[in-house]
Amino acid sequence: MDVSAATSLFARLDREIWLLTSQADGRRGGLIATFVNQASIVPEMPRVVVGLAKQHHTWELVQASGVFALHLLGQRHLEWVWRFGLSSARREDKFAGLEARPGVTNCPLLPDALGWLECRVEAALDTGDRTVYLAEVIDGRVVSDDPPLTVARMLQLAPADKLADLKRQMNEDAAVDAAAIRRWRQS
Ligand SMILES: Cc1cc2nc3c(=O)[nH]c(=O)nc-3n(C[C@H](O)[C@H](O)[C@H](O)COP(=O)(O)O)c2cc1C
Repeated sequence: MDVSAATSLFARLDREIWLLTSQADGRRGGLIATFVNQASIVPEMPRVVVGLAKQHHTWELVQASGVFALHLLGQRHLEWVWRFGLSSARREDKFAGLEARPGVTNCPLLPDALGWLECRVEAALDTGDRTVYLAEVIDGRVVSDDPPLTVARMLQLAPADKLADLKRQMNEDAAVDAAAIRRWRQS
């Protein structure tokens, strides 16, 4: 059996880049996410599905509070990808120098994003390496019609040192995920 088709086929797809922020017990954090999907076609009942790896600081905040905010990023937010996607908030305040304000969920909102959705978790599925959250959208704002930043564009724009950091982090995360999936399958 050969599962390499999964990597090849997914590599042919492009994804928009989101900044997911959360808060709990006076702590705040955020990460870059591409595991984000619209999960309802009912205009007055919008829902999303997001998948967060359990080793991330932001996962702890969503687990504790059940709320998060999704920001759609544009090309001008490339620096946020490095800031929120390449290090852990356990080591630094990722919001230092940024204008963030609390939304209705108390999650930090970055008003410069293309727009944001504030979400409350309705269901959570433990998949070993991740928790897959189904959440209702309870508030949101469209700020700009600029095109979203995608992974393909981000990779074109990334300087060599950031590309190396992305690759290293992805390999490290994949090793942690693989061990967690194995444990989960055996349990
Ligand atoms: C392009 C890109 C997409 C990512 N997508 C996800 C994702 O969907 N889910 C996730 O848990 N982590 C994802 N990550 C990894 C986190 O953003 C990253 O590990 C972050 O530094 C975690 O920060 P934290 O520990 O402060 O929460 C992605 C990273 C990048 C660069």
